[in-house]
Amino acid sequence: MNFIIGANWKMYGTVPKASDFLEELLALGSRSVRSDLVLFAPFTLLPLIGETAAAAGIELGGQDLFWEDEGAFTGEVSPGMLREAGATWFLAGHSERRHVIGESDGTVRKKLSKGLQRGLKGILCVGELLEEREAGRTEEVVKGQIRSALEGLETASAENLVIAYEPVWAIGTGLTATPGEAQRMHSLIREWVEGIRGVAFASGLRIQYGGSVKPDNAGDILSRPSVNGALVGGASLRSDSFWAIVRSVPDGE
Ligand code: 13P
Repeated sequence: MNFIIGANWKMYGTVPKASDFLEELLALGSRSVRSDLVLFAPFTLLPLIGETAAAAGIELGGQDLFWEDEGAFTGEVSPGMLREAGATWFLAGHSERRHVIGESDGTVRKKLSKGLQRGLKGILCVGELLEEREAGRTEEVVKGQIRSALEGLETASAENLVIAYEPVWAIGTGLTATPGEAQRMHSLIREWVEGIRGVAFASGLRIQYGGSVKPDNAGDILSRPSVNGALVGGASLRSDSFWAIVRSVPDGE
């Protein structure tokens, strides 16, 4: 299975910046890597950078979506709108949506389900808060997030679903789970998914790590057997550091 490396730009970026980023990646050789590369840019940028992204061999994703096709939902963006804007991927349940905006597990489930039904590929983000980790609740929290999102989910196949394990205390802090901790959580996640969706689905599922992934720690994290990619925030805002992370994918992938 290909590794998947995502650049989550959050609420950063302009059209010129995104165009430069994509052109620089093309010049660095982005078309020749085997990994799937996805840029999760702010909604407003997506329709304006599609051609440059396609030339660079990079797919586009929305950072969120809404669970209805249309209607009186001020400020929201539907899966169809995202597709029209050029996105093929979306994020569901990023920790900033859960903990800054206040999205519940139920909301995340509706978004994931609808986005997949409408033909987009989804990344379900899960992860524990620092206080949950300190209280020894990491496994309970992450397992709960996964069960809530995946149990009874109708249309998912392991090709169009990815799970990103992003411990919240590691996001934007410079702290990371050790490669050993990431490996342990990823193999637990695969086990839980197997319990919910069966062995074929679980073994085909890609699990990314996210949280302060940088050029100097990416190689160690990505070389763990249960780690199938990375979801990168801060270090994805520049083409040189993002490219260094892409190049850290173990040989042969
Ligand atoms: P940082 O890489 O900035 O810690 O962000 C991680 C993240 O939230 C990716 O979705």
